Amino acid sequence: MTDRLNHFTVVDDCSRSQLEQLLELAHEISLDTRAFENTRTGRMLVNLFYEASTRTRVSFEAAAKRLGMHVINISATGSSVEKGESLIDTFYTIQAMGPDCIVVRHPEEGNATKLAELAEPGVHVINAGDGTAAHPSQALLDALTLKQSFSDFSDIRLVMAGDILHSRVARSAIKMFLTLGIGEIRLAGPPEFMPDDASSEGTAVYADLDSAVRDANAIMMLRIQKERISGLDIPDADQYHREWGLNAERLGLAAGGCRVLHPGPMNRGVEIASGVADGSQSRIRRQVRNGLYARMALILTLTRAQA
Ligand code: CP
Repeated sequence: MTDRLNHFTVVDDCSRSQLEQLLELAHEISLDTRAFENTRTGRMLVNLFYEASTRTRVSFEAAAKRLGMHVINISATGSSVEKGESLIDTFYTIQAMGPDCIVVRHPEEGNATKLAELAEPGVHVINAGDGTAAHPSQALLDALTLKQSFSDFSDIRLVMAGDILHSRVARSAIKMFLTLGIGEIRLAGPPEFMPDDASSEGTAVYADLDSAVRDANAIMMLRIQKERISGLDIPDADQYHREWGLNAERLGLAAGGCRVLHPGPMNRGVEIASGVADGSQSRIRRQVRNGLYARMALILTLTRAQA
């Protein structure tokens, strides 16, 4: 592992000190965003999205524009992907136009890493979500959100609840938080949505949400990833909310001031009650805001040597 980040496709490629430096830079950006504006003027970022997105695509665009970069957005729909062009040919085509960063979201695992291996020097690939495998920039903004509430990661007792099995957010967040030295990660969700290897060093599986939440000081709720589920029944929304939804009563079991996170998009009344999502303990909109800072920090770090 070199000390300089060239691509950002999986958390596993990053050392603790690299993650801490990214978080420190994101924190500095959050305190004075204007000081970092137009520090990459004239550079180019391409968003290449094969799946729907609101937060990730827009915040990469907003981050790059704050830095003074040109931004081009391409989605599979409406591009030559519809005429049968492969992902790799699409990537080479975009790369030939001289971008500095290519941000890719794709439904199949490992494709961002595969593209990073094909990248020319000076082209940085960022994974904006590949199948159920990874969503590392989401983990970075989640870590920034926790860092704003806890002076030390070892003080955090985090519950992650819902569809863990199909969640790339959970996979990247668990890896990142463990690397940063989090105190505890408690996983809770229906057994059919819990990976076989969920209970490992640093994580524990809870059979019900009430016991998981008791005394926790941070809770991250996850939606059911319906678009990735095959061969399993989608639970009835009302029943799911009763068993696995975070409502005000359940939140009352947690430590006072427990922070509530959700990567979005939310399904209100399913995994989270509206009153909790909009309540004083919610940090959900802060997470969105932090997405801008985390992605500015990421782009600045990846393009640093060329600056
Ligand atoms: N959290 C997240 O990835 O949201 P989008 O799908 O809207 O980008």
